[in-house]
Order: sequence, then C-alpha cells, then structure tokens
Amino acid sequence: MENYDIKEIELAEGGRRRIDWAEREMPVLRLIRERFAKERPLNGLRIAACLHVTTETANLMHTLHDGGAEVVLTASNPLSTQDDVAAALVTHFEIPVFAIKGEDNVTYYKHINAALDHRPNITMDDGADLVSTLHIDRRELLENVIGGTEETTTGVIRLRAMAADGALEFPVIAVNDAMTKHLFDNRYGTGQSTIDGIIRATNTLLAGKNFVVAGYGWCGRGLAMRARGMGANVIVTEVVPLPALEAVMDGFRVMPMSEAARVGDIFVTLTGDINVIDKHHFELMKDGAIVANSGHFNVEINIPALEKMAKEKRLVRPFVEQYILQDNRSINILAEGRLINLASAEGHPASVMDMSFANQALSLEYMVRNVDVLGKKVYSVPEEIDRDIARLKLDAMEVDIDTLTEEQIAYLNSWEAGT
Ligand SMILES: NC(=O)c1ccc[n+]([C@@H]2O[C@H](COP(=O)([O-])OP(=O)(O)OC[C@H]3O[C@@H](n4cnc5c(N)ncnc54)[C@H](O)[C@@H]3O)[C@@H](O)[C@H]2O)c1
Repeated sequence: MENYDIKEIELAEGGRRRIDWAEREMPVLRLIRERFAKERPLNGLRIAACLHVTTETANLMHTLHDGGAEVVLTASNPLSTQDDVAAALVTHFEIPVFAIKGEDNVTYYKHINAALDHRPNITMDDGADLVSTLHIDRRELLENVIGGTEETTTGVIRLRAMAADGALEFPVIAVNDAMTKHLFDNRYGTGQSTIDGIIRATNTLLAGKNFVVAGYGWCGRGLAMRARGMGANVIVTEVVPLPALEAVMDGFRVMPMSEAARVGDIFVTLTGDINVIDKHHFELMKDGAIVANSGHFNVEINIPALEKMAKEKRLVRPFVEQYILQDNRSINILAEGRLINLASAEGHPASVMDMSFANQALSLEYMVRNVDVLGKKVYSVPEEIDRDIARLKLDAMEVDIDTLTEEQIAYLNSWEAGT
C-alpha cells in the first residue's frame, strides 16, 4: 500500500500485539465481526473514519473491513494517535492511516483531507471534524455520501446545530446517544482513563488533594466518582441547576469556579464548553496547581490567556508544561489542554469501547439497510441495538438476570390492580 502517512512502519509488530490484547476485552465487537465476515453487510462501501487511533479503534476498523468495506482512517485529535497501532493497521490490516501523534493543526487537516480524497460513502466521526470539513471545503464529495455516524457529545452538538441550520446534507446516527455508549464510555471510561492520564503525566498523589471537576455530565460524574475513590476531596462546578443538585446529593461540594480556583490542587474540565477555566481563574490559583482537560476540544482552558500572563514556560515532564507567572506562582498545564486520557494515557479501556464500537458497527449496518427512508437529520441509535448490546455484554461477562413471569408481564401491563 502506497498511500498513507504515519510515524514509523517498523512499529507494526508491537502495535499488532497491543491490538490483539484489546481484542480479548471486546467480545461483543468480536461477535459482530464474525457475523459481518459471513454476511458482508458493508460490501463495496467506502468508509472514512476520523477517530482516535487506538487499539480499540483498530478492532473496529478490522470489523468494518471484514464486513466488506474499504476503510481509511484519520485521527480525531492531534495528540491521541498511537503510532504503533497506525503502523499495524497499515501493515497487517491493509487499512490506510493518516495520523501521527503530535502532528500540528495544518497536518491534522491535511490528513482529514487525505481521508476525504478516498471519496467516502460513509463518514465515521468523533467530534464532527470530518463532516464539517466535508460540508465547508469539500462539497464536491457530498454526492457520494449516504450517511455517517458520530461518536461523542461535542460532535453530536455540532451536528444538531448543522441540522437546525438546514446545513446537514446526509443522515447521521448519534452513537453517543445510545445508553450502552454514554452511560459506560463517557462515565466509567472517562472516569478511569482521565485519572490514568493525570497520574501517568504527573505521578501525583490524589489522596487528600482538592480535585476540581468542571461539568457534572456523564464524563464529569464518572471522574468525580473515581477521584473520590482515590481519596481526593472532590469539588464540582456546574452551570445547570439539575446536575449541580445531583452532585450535591452525590455528596460533592459544589461552588463556582471562581471559588474553586482558590482551593483546588488539580482541575479537570469535561464540559464541551469554552474558557471554563479563564484568566481570572488563573489569577486566583495556588502555586503548583495542575490543570487538565478531558472534554473533546482544547478550548476549555484559556491557554492563550495564560501564555500572555506567564513570564516563562518550560516543559518539566512529558505532557506537563509549567507556566511561571509574574508573581512566581507556577501553573502546570497537562497535554496542551487536549484530552488528557488520550494524550498521556491510552484512552478508555477496551471493555467499554467494546460497547461504543459495537454501536458504531451496528448503526452503520442499520444506516445501510435504511438508507432510503432516512432524511438529512441526526438520528438516535435504534433502541433494539442498545438492548442487544447490553444483553450481549452481560452474556460475555457471564452475568445472568431474571426473566419476567407471565404473571409479572400481565401485572406490568394492567391498570386495574391497585392497593
Ligand atoms: N475524554 C474522553 O475520552 C471523552 C469521552 C466522552 C466524551 N468526551 C467529551 O467530554 C465532554 C463532556 O461530555 P459529556 O458526555 O459529559 O457531556 P454532558 O453534556 O453530559 O455534560 C457536560 C456538562 O458540563 C456542564 N457545563 C457546561 N458548561 C459549563 C461550564 N462553563 N462550567 C461548568 N459546567 C459546565 C453542562 O451543564 C453539563 O452538565 C464533551 O466535549 C465530550 O465530547 C470526552
């Protein structure tokens, strides 16, 4: 294969071993892959995927490939690529990859365009960069596209905004909306892997630290829960009353960021919002504060403002940039404010990505089967897919549950029976 752009092809063997390691924890996706290999539901379709290039994504690419698709992969974040995985996909799975860990923004978009050069029939996005580039710069390719899928909250928000503007030119299935995606991936996946990323980057002790979680959505809930488990004193900041109330009743302190900024030792943003930690917050922070982001884009921490405030900046460890302010306080920004769990760790464990990517594969199959009836809208994952994935995951975990009796079914469907 000639056309790909990765760091080093020699890394392929190590990548292959790690892809196999992840596969062991992805039993639901394995079942789908085995069925796809027989039924070939994606036969002849060209798929461009813009996802984090990880071992789990490699297993999804393998599944789509076995389902008959021609797949090309580009990164959905400049810092999340695992270069050995990219090499293994090219070498062992014949999948062209355009992704290099640490690529600059120009290369990032060059790679997205290289994936689009394959004239996809289907897009698979994590953050909607592929779809937005297609709609803004590569409109001549739109006529080939029958539909797409979107992996994350921020991407779904962008796509819904496009649909509301009448700008979306094909149907997209919001994989993030599936219960078997966000309840597990966003909560337990982000919860665990964000802590993993912070620890790998800093080797800091969490016990006894004031750990500020900005945003109590699915990701924030997971992170707050796991940080508490490590012995941290967790503080939550929110802008919406309901999740704020939930955080209070879950036993966390809730306060505005302007108060949390004074007492926090470690800060993590997971909101999908912009400038959640801003100049006036940096002005209040303690010397040595650690600041990270696990939301999709690197806009949650106002790093340009911090750059202006700082008299000096130095890289003290991989993924830890220390900004020295005029009054000699230091503030440590992790991974340039990009997704910390993917930059300094490996992203979510395979076991949760099993469900997220089972949703991706089955949503694609659904889209191909229903292409004639879907409009230019954002669709949720059909409930049957969600239910099937939950059942298959329980089976794989060897967890049995009860079955409703005839009497219980009748009772649950009746309205006459009362006190
Ligand atoms: N790191 C990862 O691997 C990973 C995984 C899944 C999702 N994500 C991303 O994480 C972000 C959050 O996803 P989610 O599913 O938790 O979203 P969500 O919509 O469930 O939660 C976001 C929360 O942030 C709150 N919020 C918004 N602006 C805020 C502000 N200025 N201050 C405090 N709180 C604020 C909202 O009220 C909401 O409760 C998104 O960008 C998503 O794409 C990252």
